[in-house]
Amino acid sequence: MKKLKIADGIYMLTMNVEDILFEGIWEIANGVTINSYLVQGEKTAIIDGVIGWDGIPETLYQNLEEIGVDPKKIDYLVVNHMEPDHSGWIENFRKIKDDFTVICTEKAAKLVSSFYGEDGIRIVQEGDTLDLGRGKVLSFHPVPNVHWPDTMYTYERETKTLFSCDMFGAFGRMGEHCFDDELTPEEMDFFEAEGIRYYSNVMATFTPSVKKAIEKAKTLEIKVIAPGHGPVYRKNPQKIIADYARFTRYAEGAGKKEVTILWGSMYGMTAKAVAYVESILQREGVRYNKLEMPLESESEMVATVFGSAGIIIAAPTYEYKLFPPVAAALNELGRKRITGKTAFRFGSYGWSGGAEKELQEIMERNNMKWDFVESVEFEGAPKKEDLIKVEAGVLELIKKMGNKVVE
Ligand SMILES: Cc1cc2nc3c(=O)[nH]c(=O)nc-3n(C[C@H](O)[C@H](O)[C@H](O)COP(=O)(O)O)c2cc1C
Ligand SMILES: [Fe+2]
Ligand SMILES: [Fe+2]
Repeated sequence: MKKLKIADGIYMLTMNVEDILFEGIWEIANGVTINSYLVQGEKTAIIDGVIGWDGIPETLYQNLEEIGVDPKKIDYLVVNHMEPDHSGWIENFRKIKDDFTVICTEKAAKLVSSFYGEDGIRIVQEGDTLDLGRGKVLSFHPVPNVHWPDTMYTYERETKTLFSCDMFGAFGRMGEHCFDDELTPEEMDFFEAEGIRYYSNVMATFTPSVKKAIEKAKTLEIKVIAPGHGPVYRKNPQKIIADYARFTRYAEGAGKKEVTILWGSMYGMTAKAVAYVESILQREGVRYNKLEMPLESESEMVATVFGSAGIIIAAPTYEYKLFPPVAAALNELGRKRITGKTAFRFGSYGWSGGAEKELQEIMERNNMKWDFVESVEFEGAPKKEDLIKVEAGVLELIKKMGNKVVE
């Protein structure tokens, strides 16, 4: 666990977590940080207190002591969001101290009592404040459904610091550099990519609420954004706000100027056309990613499709339906509410096909509104005339996705 000073009386405690499935699903290839913040006036508040994923709150207590804070002197636990990655230590804290107050929204209060049996709770509403003394005043601003219904921002008035919880967060382990002004250009790129991974994996379903939370952030004068995961932005907090605004657009069909080929093939027939498509994309100078299902992780698949303006689905018919790993990927994208992508599908069949029908069913069931170029189906191996049709489809896709490019 690292301890960093953000301002007089404001500290960040952060730790890298690796080798877990985030939310029990997402492989976090590059780890994630869990950040917690301490604000000291005459009274002391801890915001989103973390324990190690090892479940040892003693690590936190020891680190608090090292920055001169006796854990027993903590007066308030601000729970911006009840998800246990932020609040999982409350139960343990109760064992070492009895007279503290949990500060959270009404919806979080219900969760805090049902998960931890807590009752020392002060419910806050939009604009409520908590004066900690020595100039430190916290105000609270609910941002429901980012990511759970209970979430809120906490804002410190003197330093104009926004403790934004999951909002403005990113995956990715942090090395020595935890503030935006310390990050090297490579680290900036790393956290931007990890921001896309985080947003697509964890937040995409809640895009309409994220948009409202962005608007709420704009009503506050912000000098520092201190999220629950990822770096702290003190040089240019507007950057992460603009990034998140862009991510909301990716969820609604925009993307980087690149194509993602989401593909699978049993005996290599569809794969032959994939190889041909690659040669076309190379000839046209279009950047592309290839995701072979089911070999790709769910996390990588969702993040890569999410960030691309054009999607090529290449998959054959399997038992009257779409090749199952590709169908599963599309269903997952539908559940994540990744809508409006510009797309093109082709694939091989043996006798009567069926893949195309299921593709349409998946799109409709999930209300995905993807904008498709006409699909190409071919019997067995792709013949010359099939490849000509595939090429035409790819060229049309490239043209069509042009007005969805946002970088
Ligand atoms: C397990 C299995 C199920 C299949 N089910 C169908 C089917 O329902 N309808 C059909 O037209 N072809 C079906 N086929 C034939 C494939 O679609 C055909 O072999 C196609 O060329 C496979 O393309 P690929 O080599 O890219 O996987 C099936 C093949 C396999 C191995
Ligand atoms: Fe969360
Ligand atoms: Fe979180």
